[in-house]
Amino acid sequence: MDARTPRPSSGPEAPPKRFTHRTIERNVTLLAVLSFVVVAIGGIVEIAPLFWIDTTVEKVEGMRPYTPLEQAGRNIYIREGCYTCHSQMIRPFRDEAERYGHYSLAAESMYDHPFQWGSKRTGPDLARVGNRYSDEWHVQHLKNPRSVTPESIMPGYSFLSERKLDAGDMRAHLKALSRVGVPYDEAAIAAANDDLLAQATPDADAASLVARYPKAQVRDFDGQPDRVTEMDALVAYLQMLGTLIDFEAAAAQEQPR
Ligand code: HEC
Repeated sequence: MDARTPRPSSGPEAPPKRFTHRTIERNVTLLAVLSFVVVAIGGIVEIAPLFWIDTTVEKVEGMRPYTPLEQAGRNIYIREGCYTCHSQMIRPFRDEAERYGHYSLAAESMYDHPFQWGSKRTGPDLARVGNRYSDEWHVQHLKNPRSVTPESIMPGYSFLSERKLDAGDMRAHLKALSRVGVPYDEAAIAAANDDLLAQATPDADAASLVARYPKAQVRDFDGQPDRVTEMDALVAYLQMLGTLIDFEAAAAQEQPR
């Protein structure tokens, strides 16, 4: 027999192998399977609760779905690519808050499909532009931006005043939005086309509209009371932005308790 002592791991008398970390490290398949299990536990803990809660956005008082006219204006905003130059998200930095107002809250874009946060600011943020200027200012500015801001590089959109608002069937539009979670009820959907016109028609009976959509601004927006144009819809949308919630109170609600 060899004089050297046999290595403990060889030979029939070797002690039974113990399952240690070394075993895992030396078996690549076992290592992969166990790594997957560990990562999966972490993933499930993070993801699973999302299946049981309705929304990750905390509701704040005052936020409501857009009126049909605002929604139609929003569609024009998207069609004309306003979002390519304007963001709608004020970040929680001092310079932004001082220029644009309180930082945007998650709830303020909870009914946006798609959201209009934007990724570029050639022009200013519009998240709180509502009620900052008069309707006349907006109409004049949209027709010819240089007539109110001489150094502006924004293009003019004067054709919006000429074009009759043809928003399609707003009932179908609201219904589609309700399917993705915007809380339009049956009555709101049924009345969508009437509500669209009522909001921009002076002297129209807008009581039910305002009951459905608190803080809805009802008037002629484009200076042409006898017709409802694309300009009416776009200005109605702009004048609503950032006006629905009392953001000081809402921000306090959003703070962790
Ligand atoms: C090419 C980039 C560009 C596009 C596209 C654009 N804008 Fe502008 N917008 C600007 C710039 C720059 C300003 C700042 C100068 C001024 O007031 O005109 C501005 C200013 C504004 C303001 C005034 C904001 C404030 O707080 O003073 C409003 C409202 C506005 N734009 C709305 C719109 C709408 C609505 C559209 C789409 C129909 C649009 N813009 C498309 C560049 C753009």
